[in-house]
Amino acid sequence: MSSCCMCAGRCEPANKFFSKIAKHYARRFRRSGLGKEQRLLLEGIRRDSVQGKRVLDIGCGVGALHLSLLKEGAAHATGVDAAEGMVKKAQLLSEEFGVAEKTNYINGDFVEYAEQLHDAEITMLDKVVCCYEDVETLVKKSTEKTAAVYALTHPKESLFVKTLFKSHIALAALFRWKFHPFWHDWQKMREMIVGEGFTCVYDNSTMSWRVLVYKRV
Ligand SMILES: C[S@@+](CC[C@H](N)C(=O)[O-])C[C@H]1O[C@@H](n2cnc3c(N)ncnc32)[C@H](O)[C@@H]1O
Repeated sequence: MSSCCMCAGRCEPANKFFSKIAKHYARRFRRSGLGKEQRLLLEGIRRDSVQGKRVLDIGCGVGALHLSLLKEGAAHATGVDAAEGMVKKAQLLSEEFGVAEKTNYINGDFVEYAEQLHDAEITMLDKVVCCYEDVETLVKKSTEKTAAVYALTHPKESLFVKTLFKSHIALAALFRWKFHPFWHDWQKMREMIVGEGFTCVYDNSTMSWRVLVYKRV
């Protein structure tokens, strides 16, 4: 694992918040496997073979998605996460899955590390774009790294989900919580992905998440 030196600023609240709850993510994955939105994301990605592909998992958490793809024949996965606790759990799980030699992990802000990373055929951002303030730079730098498939989930634009997010953001401001999620202009973000040279090939949703898979055209 590369050590984190880039989280001292923008990602430090996410580092603290997600490191604390990493053990819950790992326990849930061990007990119940993938979440519904993750199963849908993989369904969209698998429309093309994943055999031999290189995967970049940004905001990888405990690694559920890329560990699944490695089990299915992907060649290599790089997991990047701002939270040290998440990266440590992902490393442990990669050993349990017997795929540790096909992984490498970076603990830090992807935006800061992007130049140092190899391109990938499959890039994933699962429930990450709502955890980062500068979503435009995150999307720009991650699409640049993507040779073929760009897969992400973002909060669904329903009144229910929007109210939930906005309430969380308001409470965070009131009580001065260090970490809070972000509600971005999701349509603008989707247009940006298309503007970077991608077309949407899979569009699905759960109650809370929009699940999108794009292919480079
Ligand atoms: C809601 S969690 C989702 C984790 C995982 N993708 C999953 O679905 O289980 C969001 C994760 O994104 C990470 N994250 C947010 N912004 C990031 C960035 N710019 N670079 C790296 N990781 C980031 C956070 O540390 C956190 O672990």
